[in-house]
Amino acid sequence: MPFNPDKFILSSEKGIKSAVGKEKAIIALSGGVDSFVAAALCAKSGINLQAVFVDTGCMRKDEAKKVKAAADEVGVHLKIVNAEEQFLSALAGVDEPERKRKIIGELFIRVFEKEAKESGATFLVQGTIAPDWIESGGHGRDTIKSHHNVGGLPAKMGLTLCEPLRELYKHEVRIAGKSLGLPRYVYERQPFPGPGLAVRVVGEITKEKLAIVREACDIAENEIDRASAEGKMEKPWQYFAALLPSKTVGVKGDERSYKFTIVLRAVKSLDGMTANFSHIPPEVLQVISTRITNEIREVGRVVYDITNKPPATIELE
Ligand code: XMP
Repeated sequence: MPFNPDKFILSSEKGIKSAVGKEKAIIALSGGVDSFVAAALCAKSGINLQAVFVDTGCMRKDEAKKVKAAADEVGVHLKIVNAEEQFLSALAGVDEPERKRKIIGELFIRVFEKEAKESGATFLVQGTIAPDWIESGGHGRDTIKSHHNVGGLPAKMGLTLCEPLRELYKHEVRIAGKSLGLPRYVYERQPFPGPGLAVRVVGEITKEKLAIVREACDIAENEIDRASAEGKMEKPWQYFAALLPSKTVGVKGDERSYKFTIVLRAVKSLDGMTANFSHIPPEVLQVISTRITNEIREVGRVVYDITNKPPATIELE
């Protein structure tokens, strides 16, 4: 049966209202389409909602500013919490992907519990969608990777979960967002992983590596957006840059250089469960590679990931 957004919105509104009642709810508004649609649904249902954006230090360029502007536009009251130092010190020296995800997930919840306590909220609204819990395993399924809002949850949480998008796939969330009247740039926004740039820095995270991958992601996104708008290529479902932990040798002028490698990843997908790598025209690849190596001093090489999912996942961790 095709997805019916109006029916979904109506039944979600009712569900949220009857679950939360007169209690207060808090939502993690990360800036992605999932949390925005969840927040908009909650706002529409008329519950008492406090939206919080946690800046983990692993967010995209200017993300806090952009999310605030978009939240204001749809009438969602947003508080920004700067927790960068907390996250980076908890992640220091950790290079194992699943441990990184668990640490981020738990810290995320702890930060929220503190915010919830201060605000008096008893419910935690999350934009969890179907692939998040399917891939997180359990009930006879293998764990492919723990999505931060599922596998990372501590067993004893002081808040009751409310996940209105749990049965939806990404394309359905976008349709619901459009029906809810969200701005196009919000409901068409490409997916972004809950743990953020932390899973785009392969291995141990440092502030320096995060800054590199943030800049590289911004360049890749802007150039692919531009090329798609100019009709040079089809817009991929998701497109970004990731940083490899090892350095490689190069030359700059007459001098030997020894710098980081950036991986360019762009995929076509319907729901993120499977994906094919996107064909980026060589001239667009050239612009991205030149800009990244020219504008980011610490990067000496750019490679293009041509792996499908499976066998690879979309993110590198
Ligand atoms: P993978 O890397 O598993 O990604 O092929 C599938 C889709 O999910 C996104 N992703 C996440 N989303 N929490 C999320 O909300 C997470 O922990 C997470 N990890 C990956 C990824 O960006 C892709 O769109």
